[in-house]
Amino acid sequence: MDGIVTKKINLAVLISGRGSNLQSIIDACADENFPAKISLVISNEPDAYGLERAKAAGIATATIPHKAYPSRKEFEVALQEKLSEYPVDLICLAGFMRVLTSEFVARWDGKMLNIHPSLLPAYTGLHTHERVLAAKEKESGCTIHFVTPGLDEGPTLIQKRVAVMPTDTPETLAARILVEEHIAYPEAIRLIALGKVKYGKDHVEIGAVDPYIPPQPKPAPVTEPPAPMTVAPGPAKVQQPIVKPQEKAPMDHHSAPAGDIDPAAIAHSQATFLEFAKAAKYLVIGVTALLILMAITLL
Ligand code: GRF
Repeated sequence: MDGIVTKKINLAVLISGRGSNLQSIIDACADENFPAKISLVISNEPDAYGLERAKAAGIATATIPHKAYPSRKEFEVALQEKLSEYPVDLICLAGFMRVLTSEFVARWDGKMLNIHPSLLPAYTGLHTHERVLAAKEKESGCTIHFVTPGLDEGPTLIQKRVAVMPTDTPETLAARILVEEHIAYPEAIRLIALGKVKYGKDHVEIGAVDPYIPPQPKPAPVTEPPAPMTVAPGPAKVQQPIVKPQEKAPMDHHSAPAGDIDPAAIAHSQATFLEFAKAAKYLVIGVTALLILMAITLL
């Protein structure tokens, strides 16, 4: 069974911005049966939002601003120095917007992945969605590939395909592909960590493996809302309308936790109290009637 994990590989994730792919890796690594953990997140952009995601997950972060270095090589020396401070088996480029030199790539040959939002080898480089739409392609997708010196050229590990709709804009297409990206990256990491991938310079062999099941969002605890109280005309039980549980707005990873008193709990207490008062009323009426009956009998 592939799901039982005894040893995890160590990842360094390199980002430049939003970090939604980083988040998908963080979420996957939160599963104790996922065979990898993140040692370090590095950004070349100091205000990359992905750094906040990493910090929120308690992951070590580093910023190495490329602009502070006179050359690509010197930037990469700093990058390599930082990487060597942590255990790193695999580098994941996740929206990392720097081209790496062939020396750096050779240093991590077979140990560095990239994600690209197209079906490589088609549409390497930037503005892929615009170009896919202009070419009236019927499908597009994303590719996880090993990094080799040529831009977006290394051997493919995983591809996910999506249909291109006639109504698509670059934004809608990007959003649909991004959903697949978030499945593909953890899947690729898992394949490597489980030792299922044989890496060759221009091809990749993948061994049989159980399918990857992405972590499901945890369901919010359901509080049964109270049915609205109706004033009963008599002791007969009133059929209460069924009220659907209120839908909770989806929370993103940075939403403030709810700390307020639950209004459903207050309403529930009120309902219990009113039920009790109603029962007491009928008890008093019953006892009074009984006393009157006894008095009449005695007279
Ligand atoms: C993704 O679309 C990825 O394919 C591309 O850059 C984008 C990064 O997005 N290389 P995010 O920072 O992971 O949200």
